[in-house]
Amino acid sequence: MNTTTNPNKALWEKGDFTRIAESMRESGEALAASLGITRQAKVLDLGCGDGTTALPIARHGAEVLGVDIATNLVEAGKQRARAAGVTNLRFQEGDACDLRGLEDRSFDFVVSFFGAMFAPRPFDVAKEMVRVTRPGGRIVMGNWIPNDPTLVAQILKLSSAYAPPPPEGFVSPMTWGVETHVVERFTAAGVARERIAFARDSFTFRQPRPPAELVARFRQYYGPTMNAFEAAAKAGRAADLQRELEELFEAQNQSPSKDATHIAATFLRVSVSV
Ligand SMILES: C[S@@+](CC[C@H](N)C(=O)[O-])C[C@H]1O[C@@H](n2cnc3c(N)ncnc32)[C@H](O)[C@@H]1O
Repeated sequence: MNTTTNPNKALWEKGDFTRIAESMRESGEALAASLGITRQAKVLDLGCGDGTTALPIARHGAEVLGVDIATNLVEAGKQRARAAGVTNLRFQEGDACDLRGLEDRSFDFVVSFFGAMFAPRPFDVAKEMVRVTRPGGRIVMGNWIPNDPTLVAQILKLSSAYAPPPPEGFVSPMTWGVETHVVERFTAAGVARERIAFARDSFTFRQPRPPAELVARFRQYYGPTMNAFEAAAKAGRAADLQRELEELFEAQNQSPSKDATHIAATFLRVSVSV
């Protein structure tokens, strides 16, 4: 029996990201539609979660493989594909740092929205994404941006302020939101600088319930926030974290109704032509 715990996997299996992803479906569909993926394309969605982008990409006709490190999310993705009657979408467990089992140059598109950025070894991630993309293919990543004033960057900033300091050598996932780091990683993987492009884009979290209910979901189901609450509770500061998050969500809510949540978050869209 393998008794070694992979903290990266444990973080994402700790909660149930589906409960957050329910507020991401509409933007996930819009993102999928914006990629210009053709019907015959072979697509890898890395860090796919339960298929927020993988499912709509498959509905456009492409043959999609969703890979995620979390066993529970791979299972949830399979169930969603079955329920939707989509047969050109498969899910399997895997680590973005090491895509063993996936052949070189085997995908036309490799996409990763807020997924591969959370893998611990970013240079290996870039190398693996490039390796499995065929020449002439494209990699598209969506990455949250450090110190950005919008929702997710602020949740992660608050969460890390309450959590214990990370272990030595830890590379923050947020570095994927900094262009110089992204260039360094993909050029090290053999991609010429001029084949890497950046744009700011926006992703909207929507739910027909008030912002405090979305905070409750993050507290109960989103690994990084769950860890932050555990650390805050030990320091007797859980109520402070709750208050700060509720203030953040209320302040960012753009819904005209206070009983609904509609919060846009900015991300860095990275396009790499391989
Ligand atoms: C914020 S969620 C985003 C999920 C999905 N892309 C979406 O937009 O709904 C981050 C995802 O990355 C996955 N993940 C984290 N580290 C990973 C790794 N090393 N390899 C593969 N997936 C990983 C998590 O399990 C989780 O499903």
